[in-house]
Amino acid sequence: MKNKPFLLVANWKMNPLTLKEADRIIKSLEKGIRAMNKKDFFQKIDLVVCPPSVFLGRLPNSSGFNWGIQNIHWETRGAFTGELSVKMAEDARCQYAIVGHSERRKFFGEKDQGVNQKILSVLGGNLNPILCIGETKEEREQNKTNDVVKNQIYQALQNVSALNLPRIAIAYEPVWAISNMSNPAIQSSNNTYLNTADSPDDVMGVTILIRKILSQMYRSDITKKTKILYGGSVSQRNIDGFLDTDILDGLLIGGASLSMFEFLPIIKSCYENRSK
Ligand code: PGA
Repeated sequence: MKNKPFLLVANWKMNPLTLKEADRIIKSLEKGIRAMNKKDFFQKIDLVVCPPSVFLGRLPNSSGFNWGIQNIHWETRGAFTGELSVKMAEDARCQYAIVGHSERRKFFGEKDQGVNQKILSVLGGNLNPILCIGETKEEREQNKTNDVVKNQIYQALQNVSALNLPRIAIAYEPVWAISNMSNPAIQSSNNTYLNTADSPDDVMGVTILIRKILSQMYRSDITKKTKILYGGSVSQRNIDGFLDTDILDGLLIGGASLSMFEFLPIIKSCYENRSK
């Protein structure tokens, strides 16, 4: 039995399109968890749902799981059209904030410096940051994964005190492995997803590297308390490979978290792995 709860983050991205549909997903999620009938479920699994911001605070407030915001601004308030502050996310019942997701970096030009400002702002409030890092396909092909990961962590955590490390989760999400499941061209005929995620062995290697980078940066045992997650096309088909590594503290799940056909078996596997 493992003593830390497993951090399972459901990143809904820009889905679903209506509050009614979001409500339906939350209710089937709650029902599925209830049906598992495990009294210690929420001691073993720290489940964080990150819906689109307009739905935050308007969905059933399930006793048990937590809410996260998919993006946050670094300033506390003011003339920043379209942005949301840490206090606003807290007021909408969030405990977590995703920072530096590769889709933000790719489509909205987020840079490491801005990621660092967001991390500092989140830590200045009461939210826990989930920092996303990972290399592109080209970088992987050029064997630059280690350099990219190291650089992103160093920049994102500038001026972050060691005392805050237990609040931080680092999600390793290779860019090329993300959102492959929502691409119909690579879905298999029986509606389960083809394995387009990174391999558990490679993820294990990068997880060890992240631990090493943290201990070089902070030279303290407290770095062990930072959670390390994997994300990128995790499905019920490939989940066991990641859990079997026994090295991850959690998973960040996009596409599969919107389908209870996918997500409930994933949750169940995580619970069982945590109960071993
Ligand atoms: P995915 O997304 O599971 O759909 O690949 C993961 C993420 O980007 O958060």
